[in-house]
Amino acid sequence: MSEATIESILQETRRFHPPAEFSQNAHIKSLEDYQHLYDRAKADPQKFWGELAEQELHWFQKWDTVLDWQPPFAKWFVGGKTNISYNCLDRHLTTWRKNKAALIWEGEPGDTRTLTYAQLHREVCQMANVLKQLGVQKGDRVGIYMPMIPEAAIAMLACARIGAPHTVVFGGFSAEALRDRLIDVQARVVITADGGWRKDAIVPLKAQVDKALANGGVPGVENVIVVRRTEQDVYMQPGRDRWWHELQQTASADCPAEPMDSEDLLFILYTSGSTGKPKGVVHTTGGYNLYTHITTKWIFDLQDTDVYWCTADVGWITGHSYIVYGPLSNGATTLMYEGAPRASNPGCMWDIIEKHGVNVFYTAPTAIRAFIKMGDDLPKARNLSSLRLLGTVGEPINPEAWMWYYRVIGGERCPIVDTWWQTETGGIMITPLPGAIPTKPGSATLPFPGIIADVVDLEGNSVAEGGYLAVKYPWPGMMRTIYGDPDRFRRTYWEHIPPKDGQYLYFAGDGARCDKDGYFWVMGRVDDVINVSGHRLGTMEIESALVSHPAVAEAAVVGKPDELKGEDIVAFVTLEGTQSGTEELQKELKRHVVQEIGAIARPGEIRFTDALPKTRSGKIMRRLLRNLASGQEVSGDTSTLEDRGVLDRLREGA
Ligand code: WT7
Repeated sequence: MSEATIESILQETRRFHPPAEFSQNAHIKSLEDYQHLYDRAKADPQKFWGELAEQELHWFQKWDTVLDWQPPFAKWFVGGKTNISYNCLDRHLTTWRKNKAALIWEGEPGDTRTLTYAQLHREVCQMANVLKQLGVQKGDRVGIYMPMIPEAAIAMLACARIGAPHTVVFGGFSAEALRDRLIDVQARVVITADGGWRKDAIVPLKAQVDKALANGGVPGVENVIVVRRTEQDVYMQPGRDRWWHELQQTASADCPAEPMDSEDLLFILYTSGSTGKPKGVVHTTGGYNLYTHITTKWIFDLQDTDVYWCTADVGWITGHSYIVYGPLSNGATTLMYEGAPRASNPGCMWDIIEKHGVNVFYTAPTAIRAFIKMGDDLPKARNLSSLRLLGTVGEPINPEAWMWYYRVIGGERCPIVDTWWQTETGGIMITPLPGAIPTKPGSATLPFPGIIADVVDLEGNSVAEGGYLAVKYPWPGMMRTIYGDPDRFRRTYWEHIPPKDGQYLYFAGDGARCDKDGYFWVMGRVDDVINVSGHRLGTMEIESALVSHPAVAEAAVVGKPDELKGEDIVAFVTLEGTQSGTEELQKELKRHVVQEIGAIARPGEIRFTDALPKTRSGKIMRRLLRNLASGQEVSGDTSTLEDRGVLDRLREGA
C-alpha cells in the first residue's frame, strides 16, 4: 500500500450506518445482535459451531466431537458424515427451489444459459458417473483447468459427490504452472475445454493441457475430458482425450452422493507464499461446508429472491467459496460471467446487473479502480436499482474507491462489505455484517462471530497501533495442512509467532491496525508476497522463472504501488557474462515469465543492474529495492550493505 493511501486511511472518520430498511430484513439485524452472536461464540465456540452445523447442513451421520484440536492440526465434526454436493443440490430438490435458477451463466460472446437446481443436479450426477466409469475412485485427485463456464462448477460438484478431491488451476496459468500442480497432487484425470473466451480472444486451454502432459509430463493422468466451448480445432489424443458432451450423453443421472467423512479431503488449491513453490492448501468437507455456508448467508445476507453475483474466477478461492459452494449450499441463484470489461464492451458489468436484476454484487478493488477510470457515464447509463448490497475482496480498498463504489454503483443506499480473508482461511474472516455493523471506508471492520482475531507483535502481544494480523482460535473453514508437507504448514502459519503456553496463533502474513472501536484496518502483506490486481504472487516464484532464462544470473523481484493494480511487479536483474541489457531482452524476459507462470506474473518493469544490494552475509536487501522501485528515498539502515556503490549505480540506472 502506498504511503499516501495509508495516510488517507488513518485520517478516515466517515461512518456509514446500515439503512433501517436493510437491517429490518437482514439475517443479522443490529450491532447488538452481532455482539450477542460474537460473545456467545467466543464463550463457547464448540457449542456455537455445533448448533450451526446441526441447523444449517444435512448430515448422513452426526459427529461425535465438534473439534479435535491438536495444534496446529484441527479436525472438525469428527465422526460426522456429509456431502457438500448433497448440501448444494439434493436437499433443495425436495423444496420449492427444485425449479429455481441455481446458476445463471453469461458467456462470451453473448451466450447465456440458466440451470435450475434440478438441472444442475442432473448434470452433476452424470459427470460424477462419467468420472466413476473412467476409474476415478474416492480419494483420487482430479485436475480442473477451465474457463468460466457452468461445466467448471459441474465438474467441481461431481468430484465432491464421489469424494474425489479437485484441484482447480486458474485458466490464466501456463502449461508449466499447470504441470507443477498436477504433478504435486498426482492427478488421475484432467477436465478442461477446447478453449475459453478472454477479452475477445480465445485462450487455448486444451493446447496448454497437451503441453503439460507431453512426454509423460504428469505420470498418472490417464484421461482428459474436454468441454466443447469455442469449437476451434483441437488435438484429441486417442485413448486419452474424450469429449464432455459425448460422455454426458450416455451417463446415467442416478448417482447418490457418497457419504463423506467430515475430515475427508474436499479440494486442494494452490497459492503463493514468500518462499518455495506454491503451496497446496488443503480444505476438507464438513467444516468448509459449514463455514462457507454461514458466511455467505450472513455476510451477503442472502434472501431467497436474490440474484447474487461474484465476479471472481473459479480458479481462485473466492470462486470456490463464493460462486460455487457457499451460494449453492444456501439454495441461492449464483451468476457466473465468462468475460471481463474490455475495449469492445466496457459497460458489460452494468449491462449484466441490469439484465438479470442483480441484487448482491461482489468484486475486487482493482476492478473498482478500473471502473472509475472508465468513467461514471457507463454505470449511470444503466439501471442499477436492483442492487442492495456490494462487496469487495482481494486487497485493501482505498477510501476513494470505496466512496465511488458506494455513490456511483450503490446509489448511496447499498451497504458495502469489505471482506478480509485468504485461500488458507477458506472463507471470510473479518467483515461487516451488512445489516448490523456500521462501515468505515477502508476498514474490513470486525471479525465474523467465532473468529478471534487480533493484531500482535512477534511475541504474540496485542499491539493495536500496528502489527501482524493473527487468529487465536481454530475455525471450521481453516486449511488443514499443506498437501504433502505438514511441516511447512506448521512452520509457515503457526510458528512464525512462537506458541506460548500451548496457545497457537495463526499468522496470516498481513500487517494490520486496530482502532478504538475494535475495527481492523488491513494494510497488506508483510512477507515477500505481492498482490497484483488481487492476484497473489510470491516474489521468489517470479525470481525462479527469471533465473531459468539462460541470460539471467540473478534476479530480485519486489512490488511497487500501482494506481490500478494495487501493486506492480518490478524485477532487478543481473545478466550472465558480458551480455547487455537491451530493450529486446526486457521483452523476452517478460515473455519468459509469462510462459513459466502465466500472464498474471508478467513484470511491469525489468531493470538491469550489474549487482544487487546485499548484506555481508549475502541476503538481498529487498527493502532498498522496494524503495528504489517506487522512486522513494532509500529509508532505514543501510549500514549492513556490503557494497554501498551498488545503491548509487542502481539510482543512476533508474
Ligand atoms: C491476501 C489473500 C480471499 C480472497 C482473495 C484473495 C489480501 C484479501 C482483503 C481485504 C485487505 C485483503 C490479504 C490476504 N486481502 N482480502 N478485504 N483487505 N487485504 O485470496 O489469494 O489467498 O490472498 O489478499 O493480503 O492475505 P488470496
